[in-house]
Amino acid sequence: MIDEAVRHAYGVDWQLVRDGTYFVAEDGPMVVGAGGWSYRQTIAGAHGPDDPAADLLDPAHDAARVRAFYVDPQYVRRGVGALLLRVSEEAAREAGFMEAELTSTLPAVPFYAAFGYCPVETFNMQLPNGSVLSLELMNKRL
Ligand SMILES: CC(C)(COP(=O)(O)OP(=O)(O)OC[C@H]1O[C@@H](n2cnc3c(N)ncnc32)[C@H](O)[C@@H]1OP(=O)(O)O)[C@@H](O)C(=O)NCCC(=O)NCCS
Repeated sequence: MIDEAVRHAYGVDWQLVRDGTYFVAEDGPMVVGAGGWSYRQTIAGAHGPDDPAADLLDPAHDAARVRAFYVDPQYVRRGVGALLLRVSEEAAREAGFMEAELTSTLPAVPFYAAFGYCPVETFNMQLPNGSVLSLELMNKRL
């Protein structure tokens, strides 16, 4: 289950890196957290280096995506996620977006809720091996 989730739900989204909308937090030479946002349709899931780019969102009508937040377990509850989220939201706002949405793992719901994200609905992502991952769709006015 963990291998499947890492491969299909939490794998690297290369498009975020290419778009320059993915950030890392460093402590000296170590990367201790990562997270970002997107002006493309994809809201969750891995995206390989050879996959085609997803369609663009329209800031006038669509919500920016907040994507792929991970903090090293040794650095949690020290404000790393908050810093990455603030930088991501600022960049989305500068790009003209007025709303942000994301799909949260259930354990991360309190983190996003602390920054004003509201639960919209819980849904299940079907993984290729048949197991199911529950996620929460959340949104926020920027
Ligand atoms: C979710 C995650 C990114 C949060 O990162 P973090 O650096 O620990 O978050 P912060 O320290 O910036 O937390 C800011 C606030 O969010 C809330 N918060 C964060 N984690 C929380 C938790 N586990 N339970 C309740 N509230 C939480 C708190 O209000 C916290 O402020 P406080 O520590 O002063 O009380 C991190 O726990 C993580 O990587 N989890 C595993 C991966 C994951 O599920 N990512 C989400 C993918 S959608």
